[in-house]
Amino acid sequence: MKLRHNPASPYVRKVMVVAHELGLAGRIELLNTAVSPVEVNATLAAENPLMKIPALVTDDGQVLFDSPVICEYLDNLSGGGKVFPSAGKARWTALRQQALGDGILDALILCRYEIAARPEDKRFAGWTDGQMKKAHQGLAALEREDLSGPRTIGAITAGCTLGYLDFRFPNDGWRQRHPKLAEWYRGVEALPSMQATKPPAS
Ligand code: BEZ
Repeated sequence: MKLRHNPASPYVRKVMVVAHELGLAGRIELLNTAVSPVEVNATLAAENPLMKIPALVTDDGQVLFDSPVICEYLDNLSGGGKVFPSAGKARWTALRQQALGDGILDALILCRYEIAARPEDKRFAGWTDGQMKKAHQGLAALEREDLSGPRTIGAITAGCTLGYLDFRFPNDGWRQRHPKLAEWYRGVEALPSMQATKPPAS
């Protein structure tokens, strides 16, 4: 399998944490891929018309995107029901937690693009504030979730979300606002799958 990859992307990290947890990381060839909110990447577009990473090319030549689909594919490949509970309340809880983590990431990445990719005189502070408000409300909801127990896609997504917050928004202060989440994340960030997928230093 080949994965369109960028070590700074938290969605790619999700996929790789799942791969490590399932013992599949060694079967994935990483293809480092530059992405931009404004520029066309023709190579990536040939596989994923949305030009987003991660995109997985399976051994039989299918292209899968985005991260929830790829993660479920990997779970299936390893027998199913491991990080995606197969049915019932456990499944809906894990899927809700995944959607919450992904939604927080969506808001954070829109902020990141506004701050890092737009010239200062063209930035729209109201936009950044609005996205940050969504991220903060999402984090407050994540604090109320039960993330203990078996490591599901919900917990993995939450871990990658908090990792991205530390990576790109180190002064956010989320640990002071959400001590329960901070305590939970202390154990999660030490896991081998999280250590193996840490974002780059800058
Ligand atoms: C980042 O550099 O923050 C980033 C890179 C790729 C995808 C999303 C975020």
